[in-house]
Amino acid sequence: MDFSLAREQELLKKMAAQFAENELEPVAAEIDETHTFPMENFQKMAKLGFTGIGVPKEYGGVGGGAVDEVIAVSEFAKKCMASAATLSIHLITPHILTQFGTEEQKEKYLPRLTKGGEVAAFALTEPGAGSDAAGVQTKAVYDAERDEYVLNGTKCFITGGSRASVITVFALTDPSKGTKGLSAILVEAGTPGFTVGKIENKMGLRGSETAELIFEDCRVPASNLVGKPGQGFKIAMQALDSARIGTGAQGVGIAEGAIGLSVKYMKERIQFGKPIAALQGLQWYIADMATKTEAAKWLVYHAAYLHDSGKPFTMEAAMCKMNAAENARFATNLALQIHGGYGYMHDYPLERMYRDAKITEIYEGTSEIHKVVISRAVLGK
Ligand code: CAA
Repeated sequence: MDFSLAREQELLKKMAAQFAENELEPVAAEIDETHTFPMENFQKMAKLGFTGIGVPKEYGGVGGGAVDEVIAVSEFAKKCMASAATLSIHLITPHILTQFGTEEQKEKYLPRLTKGGEVAAFALTEPGAGSDAAGVQTKAVYDAERDEYVLNGTKCFITGGSRASVITVFALTDPSKGTKGLSAILVEAGTPGFTVGKIENKMGLRGSETAELIFEDCRVPASNLVGKPGQGFKIAMQALDSARIGTGAQGVGIAEGAIGLSVKYMKERIQFGKPIAALQGLQWYIADMATKTEAAKWLVYHAAYLHDSGKPFTMEAAMCKMNAAENARFATNLALQIHGGYGYMHDYPLERMYRDAKITEIYEGTSEIHKVVISRAVLGK
């Protein structure tokens, strides 16, 4: 067993940490306040290769795999959770195309979505299909005469949907077949019949836009189908398995960030004539936060290792995501408590981190859904 990172991964970690400190942290409070998605930061991420992680170099990527994604995403989340989420969720579509795309799709889209600095989105969720992903109602009817799919339906809560130039949309191509009638279809921004609806006003993660996407007789070439007709549910589930490792990394990063801020504050803040770091009650908070975060980190890295080794990792991805999310809320809550009244104030980052951490228990599958996935695996159902 070897728990150490490769030399290139150490360098990646250093680069991601520097980028997060220099470019993400300075705008984190502002983008939360103004609820804006900093497109220029996304393009800087692209320039440095972060948006190409896990994509082969011949298509504009930088190679690497899930471990590399965990490194970058967790470093970003230490300083700006919204930016970490933006990268992590963007990567879903390039990874789907790398695994399931045709040669033509890879050549057409991957360079744009990696070094090209264009955003991608993953559109599965609908008003009536959240945890029950099989409840998708959006339809894609094949028009043989024009060799096109005609999409009708509405997607909701789509991260980056309003900024994306390419969206992987899950739609029923054969509604009579249930999950086996669901397909993955690429839709480009600007396609007639596709409009962006409501941008959600969220509790946290406000530096990332969450949008409603509306498809009304939206025609796309049949060549935009990813994989085979009816393969969409499996593509979505496999993509979510991988993406959940990224969400686990977000949870670990934000917890590490909260610990870092708490340690600094505890050494500076004087009460009862000494730094509050001398108070045993708060020392024990730090011990709990550090231990649980270390455990969460290794569950995430283990799932990423299994992913990169080509071994099954569905259960481990669910475990690492559920655990890291729970710990993100735990650690940001205690960090806020350590900061007392200052932690509750908008001028300090803790209240933002507390709000941001909560989403990790909800998106990319709720903690309850992960218990379904884990228990099914353990019980062999
Ligand atoms: N990998 C490959 N195939 C899988 C799979 C996996 N992880 N999980 C299920 N499948 C396959 C099954 O093998 C089955 O195939 P067969 O019919 O050939 O046997 C098929 O898919 C149906 O599986 P289930 O019967 O298990 O399906 P289910 O309806 O019981 O659903 C579920 C399972 C795990 C609950 C699933 O619905 C689920 O993951 N729900 C949560 C959805 C989710 O995470 N949504 C988040 C969306 S993205 C987001 O949050 C925000 C964003 O912007 C990114």
